[in-house]
Amino acid sequence: MLQFNQIVRQENLHRFARFRFVRKLYSLIQNQRQRFNSAVFENQNGAGNSDLFNEFNVNECAQKIHKTGVCFGLHLPIELVDEIYEYAQNSFCTEPGFNDKFLIHEVQEGCLRQGRPVVRALVNNPAECPAIEKVVADPILLQIVREYLQYYPTRITRHLTWSVVSHLPDRGKKLYPPTTFHYDIAGFNFMTVYFYITDVEINSGAHVMIEGSHNQKPLDIVLSSGRHSDEKIYNYYGKDKEIVIEGKRGFGFVQDPSCIHKVLPPITRNRLLLQIRYS
Ligand SMILES: [Fe+2]
Repeated sequence: MLQFNQIVRQENLHRFARFRFVRKLYSLIQNQRQRFNSAVFENQNGAGNSDLFNEFNVNECAQKIHKTGVCFGLHLPIELVDEIYEYAQNSFCTEPGFNDKFLIHEVQEGCLRQGRPVVRALVNNPAECPAIEKVVADPILLQIVREYLQYYPTRITRHLTWSVVSHLPDRGKKLYPPTTFHYDIAGFNFMTVYFYITDVEINSGAHVMIEGSHNQKPLDIVLSSGRHSDEKIYNYYGKDKEIVIEGKRGFGFVQDPSCIHKVLPPITRNRLLLQIRYS
């Protein structure tokens, strides 16, 4: 088991994953390490048939992510979407930086009763929702991750998050950092599967990304992962590289979150998003 000082040291080292060659090198090392006990990893991850995404082309998907940073074409059965939505409605939420717990329906006009604004709400204990665990356990998702990262992930986390309609000036952007362009560093190499649990359009929390930016960033952005202005990003990549991801509830996509991305602050309705992160 890892000691505390080892964990601290490892988290410090993760910052080097901003460099593409570090992510590639980590994949290579993990791939070689897992070769010696591949049967164990294969049994634990990605064995068996998929109940959810049958006939999905895993290799094609991984190739698309290598090229563009994203692959579309996943759809959750509507029964699972309903179950996850119900779970999110009836479970306590917390907001990063605050200690209080609340239910999402207690947020009215972007505020709790005490007047505290809420811009995002993390649904507590998503692993206790059987529908989410069914998605996490699906072998196709794990096969996509294995094919892209070239190793079986050793850490999988799930996150169920409301992005709340805000009436604050600038639509709460200051309180909600993911609404400005950034990229994620979530381990030495990593990827994320996203499912919209509510209908998402440009005005209801669409995820926006810059095509191909996981492979190429200017040095100042490589050295700083967060908060880059639209103007700076469009000037460097061109507005034509921007992909605005809209989809009905159940719509899913797989992304390398080291690409530059953000969420558009919702205006018309709250967005509920399920994320499964692999590293
Ligand atoms: Fe992010």
